[in-house]
Amino acid sequence: MILITGGAGYIGGHCAIHFLERGKEIVIFDNLENGHIETINALKNIGNLHFVKGDLRDIDDIKSVFKQYDIDAVIHFAGYIQVEESVKNPSKYYKNNILGTLNLLDSMIENNVKNIVFSSTCAVYGEPEYTPLDEKHKKNPLNPYGRTKLMIENILDDYEIAYGLKSVKLRYFNVAGADSKTRTGEWHDPETHLIPNILKSVFEKDNIFKIFGTDYDTFDGTCIRDYVNVEDMAKAHMKAYLYLKEHQKSDVFNIGTEQGNSVKEVFDTAKSVTGKDIKVKLEPRRDGDAAKLFADASKAKKILDWHSEKTLEESIKTAYLWEKSRH
Ligand code: UFG
Repeated sequence: MILITGGAGYIGGHCAIHFLERGKEIVIFDNLENGHIETINALKNIGNLHFVKGDLRDIDDIKSVFKQYDIDAVIHFAGYIQVEESVKNPSKYYKNNILGTLNLLDSMIENNVKNIVFSSTCAVYGEPEYTPLDEKHKKNPLNPYGRTKLMIENILDDYEIAYGLKSVKLRYFNVAGADSKTRTGEWHDPETHLIPNILKSVFEKDNIFKIFGTDYDTFDGTCIRDYVNVEDMAKAHMKAYLYLKEHQKSDVFNIGTEQGNSVKEVFDTAKSVTGKDIKVKLEPRRDGDAAKLFADASKAKKILDWHSEKTLEESIKTAYLWEKSRH
């Protein structure tokens, strides 16, 4: 059985669907602070799903999962993810992301579970010295959130040397879109991400979409990001899991489309996909945004045989259908 921590959240939920649809028995462990019970309910009929409500910061919670179920690998999503909040409240981030992960890893070692796929982020690189970013780029995270992810990557390597733990770290670029059957989608509170914010403004009249910064050194002045579809992302986790099972080898991969799109391009695409004339306000830059981030994902292609398949239009379309279903 596969343990998915944070499986009631956005990316974890889509990954859970992917694994269930391919006949894997899974147990989701989630404290439901940012994850949603609705996601668990939506997943129940897909396959062999177990759910445990618990918190990684409580070692007894996670230990009991390993006692109750015969776990053979872990996909670890659980963690706080908001950059701005991490700057204001680093204690919250270090306690949950670091301490929570240590509790998870120690429970794994105690139970002789030695395979883990870890959700890392392109935020580990910090301000890019060159693009596209490859895995060898200098790691210099700009905020506590990114630092917790890099620390966990390092902890995983130390646990390999000491205890033989094998890990695949996936460094996500900007994850976008929703389940193509609209069973789940992106659902954060507060919502800070670009695509859901554009789409929310379609349904909520008082919620005018804001573009943060139009004076960046890019072709149209707005930030460039690499928007990878969440179902493609789920596939990357399956490939990483199978790679671990087959090769028992640790590694790290960028997961992105290798294509950069500006905020204005995403906005224009959203207008054409929805057929709505969406209002927009131009605002000053948001703190801590790099001008340009996109992936060199050739390593994932070569070693995991993974590549991005879905287009930005497809991601926005499924995200729109999901947003519509929520309103
Ligand atoms: N943006 C807007 N308006 C909004 C929301 C976002 O203009 O309402 C802009 C941002 O300024 C940025 C771009 O859209 O230029 C993308 O912003 P997101 O918040 O969607 O995503 P980020 O690139 O900031 O964050 C993502 C992940 C983080 C990760 C980070 C690494 O969500 O978890 O990449 O850089 F840390």
